[in-house]
Amino acid sequence: MLVRKLIQIMMVLAGFALMVQAQETAQKTIENVPMKRVSPASGKEMYTNYCAVCHGVDGKGNGPAADALKVPPADLSVLAKNNGGKYPSLKVASAIRGDSNVPAHGTREMPIWGQLFRSMSEGHNSEVDQRVANLSKYIESLQVK
Ligand code: HEC
Repeated sequence: MLVRKLIQIMMVLAGFALMVQAQETAQKTIENVPMKRVSPASGKEMYTNYCAVCHGVDGKGNGPAADALKVPPADLSVLAKNNGGKYPSLKVASAIRGDSNVPAHGTREMPIWGQLFRSMSEGHNSEVDQRVANLSKYIESLQVK
């Protein structure tokens, strides 16, 4: 009998989210499920709920959904290292918001968090800014030397 394992990766507001359905041997598929509202105050909590499924808890890009994606999730622990030792906070913030096409325009597989956070915050831009800033700060703490 086929044993099915269901990993719920993330719940997104407005019907957009992902779910990885893993079967013993078969391929994983990603489904959209409603997103859970996590406090904007904790970068770690947001990262764990919204990002780790693809980027991995340590940021290295090996979350459970990673191999279901066409484009591998970026290794978020080497952003400073690859930028001459300086953490690229502006680039990270715009990657999260989805303003910048990082890196492949048209094929991006990362959700547009700016939009999702905006609808979650019901248009309160300061809360959206807080989410992006706290996520970026948390990712900064994952940097390898
Ligand atoms: C569905 C999988 C997925 C989820 C969930 C996800 N990402 Fe990504 N992320 C990607 C992929 C794939 C890329 C590679 C570029 C692309 O396709 O946009 C990426 C790229 C990035 C980058 C750009 C890195 C660089 O090299 O400049 C940042 C920053 C980032 N993600 C942060 C986050 C944060 C923060 C979250 C949670 C709020 C998150 N990601 C959730 C898949 C995901």
